[in-house]
Parts: sequence; structure tokens; C-alpha cells
Amino acid sequence: MFLRNAWYCAGWSDGLSQGANALLVRRIAGESIVLYRKPSGEVVALEDRCRHRQAPLSLGRKEGDALRCMYHGWKFGPDGMCIEVPGQPRVVQQAFVRSFPVIEKNDWIWVWMGDPALASEELICHSVGPNHPEWDLRTAHIEVNTNYRLEIANLTDLSHVAWVHQDTFGGTTAYSAIRAKQTVTARGLNQEFWVRGVPAPTFAKHLFPEEARFDLHFNVTFTVPCNFILHFRVFTAGKAADGPSDGQLLLDTFSSQAVTPRDGESVDYYYSWGAQRGTTAPGLIELLIESNHAAFLEDKRILEGQFQRMKELPDYRMCDYHQDSGPAKMLWVLDKLLKEEAENVA
Ligand code: FES
Ligand SMILES: [Fe+2]
Repeated sequence: MFLRNAWYCAGWSDGLSQGANALLVRRIAGESIVLYRKPSGEVVALEDRCRHRQAPLSLGRKEGDALRCMYHGWKFGPDGMCIEVPGQPRVVQQAFVRSFPVIEKNDWIWVWMGDPALASEELICHSVGPNHPEWDLRTAHIEVNTNYRLEIANLTDLSHVAWVHQDTFGGTTAYSAIRAKQTVTARGLNQEFWVRGVPAPTFAKHLFPEEARFDLHFNVTFTVPCNFILHFRVFTAGKAADGPSDGQLLLDTFSSQAVTPRDGESVDYYYSWGAQRGTTAPGLIELLIESNHAAFLEDKRILEGQFQRMKELPDYRMCDYHQDSGPAKMLWVLDKLLKEEAENVA
């Protein structure tokens, strides 16, 4: 089940050029969509299915603002209306394909899958794009063959960093003892927590003396369907046991992550990581995104394995523990919105 009235990330803006063959094929929340840019640069998103005989429009040809199906040549405008049927003077009544609202924001392309009248830009998650003047960021993308609810559970419970990511972000079991301050919002969950007095993460251990210790601060804004926006700061280990670290700020980083369900069994995962411009040494931003990528392959491995086991025994009785509260809260928000949407449709 997918929320219809939500913005779904279709990728990074620089992934869609104005090239003659630049037709981006996406599966979003169970629907096939083709995206392209008009000569003005504006992005169009249409159902990737010709109204005539369902040939993919993504096998078609861009013609100015329009897209022509290259099976029998029907042509569709950016609003989805058929504007030409070759060989006959009049277009066919009712010959339209669905067109989706699109907004580019912070270098991401967002597609609204629900009622166009409700497509408010306000509902696009807050993020920091790779062209932001204050942040030096790198972007990437992976595919994961799992259900997006498992991605939600993964991202709202970072205790897994200690175990899944022992070779990248981890290097301490302190993550298992996280007690995040959690605030449920109308469309998501905010989390804030400190991990104190820990060694450098595995990927950065070689940069510091063995005995170096750090305080780590995580501030996460999570919104439906599965957007994880993280402000992450590293301090030298201070003495404070509560509240802000009294250590020295070493690194101020930002990561924007959007997980888009293709269907019930796979997701596209678009993410960035980087730090404040001018505050890092050459090569450090590259190290961050390389490590991020390696870590997400670790997540992919465990989430794909977990999904397989869950499909084998969907009614298996699982046990909970205290770190399941983040996932439970976020999935509660999602389910509440899904229920409200179903009731409104009914
Ligand atoms: S299937 Fe598109 S024109 Fe026939
Ligand atoms: Fe992870």
C-alpha cells in the first residue's frame, strides 16, 4: 500500500538532461512514469503507457513540449492530452494519459502521485541540495530489493549502525544504547540524540590517533513516504554527559536521503552527504560519500536478506525491544495517513 497524496523523489535534477533521448523511466509507488524536460527546462511526468495500445511512451520521441508514441505515432502534450493521431484528421475523444505534478526542489525531482489539487509544495521535505552555497555535497543512488517499510524501520532505528555498519560507520557498540528524543509530527518523526566518547568510525580511524574520542550529534527529520534528512556533527569528546557537547566542533555534515518505493518489493534510494564548505580538507568529502555508499551496500545486504525471510514466513511471530520505538512511531504515522486516505476515497 502506498500513500497517493505525497511527493515521491524521482531522482537528482542533473540526471535528466534536455537531450533528444533523455526520457527517464521510473516506477513509483506501483506506477510506471516517464519524465522529460521541455525546451524551457520544465520537467514533465506522464504515465508511461500510450492510451492507444499501452506501448511505453518512454520508447517514444520528444517533439518540443510533446511526446510521440513510436508505435503508431500518437502524440501527447505535457498535460497528457492526445494532440495528434497520424492518418486521421481528428484526435480520439478521451485519448489522454495521466500527467503528474512535478516540482524540482533542492536539486531533486519530486512527483506527486495523488490528487493534483492537493499537490502543495509545502509538503516536499526540507533538504539541502548539492548546489547549496554553504554545503559541499556529493550525490549517489542505489537500488534495494526490499519493501520500503523495512527501509523506514532501518532509518528510524540507527542502533543498527553498531552491527550492520561495523566496517564503515560503526566501530563502537554505543549505538545500541541510543536513547533518541523522538517527536511525532503530522507527516513524520524527528529524532535527536548524542553518542558520546566514542572512537572514530571505522572508515575514518586511520585519520586519528588510536586513543582519540568523539561526541556525535544526530538530528534527523523523517517524513513520508521515506525521506531521511540528517544534520550530523562531530565534536572532540567533551565532559558533558547531557545536553550539547562541550567538545570542539570538528565536522559539520548534512545528508539528504529519499527512498522511493518502486513497488512492494524494491526501492530507489537517492542520497547525498557532505560538509560545510571550506571546513574540510581536500579529499574528505569524497571519503564521506565513498563510505556512505559502502555503508548503504551493507544495509542493502541485510534488508534484502530480511525481506526474503519475511516473504517465506509472513505470519512469523517476531519479538520487539526498546529500539523498535522509532520504527513503530514512523510506521504508525504512515499507517494513519494511509487509513485517512482510504477513508476519504471511500
Ligand atoms: S500504442 Fe501508442 S500509438 Fe499505438
Ligand atoms: Fe544503515
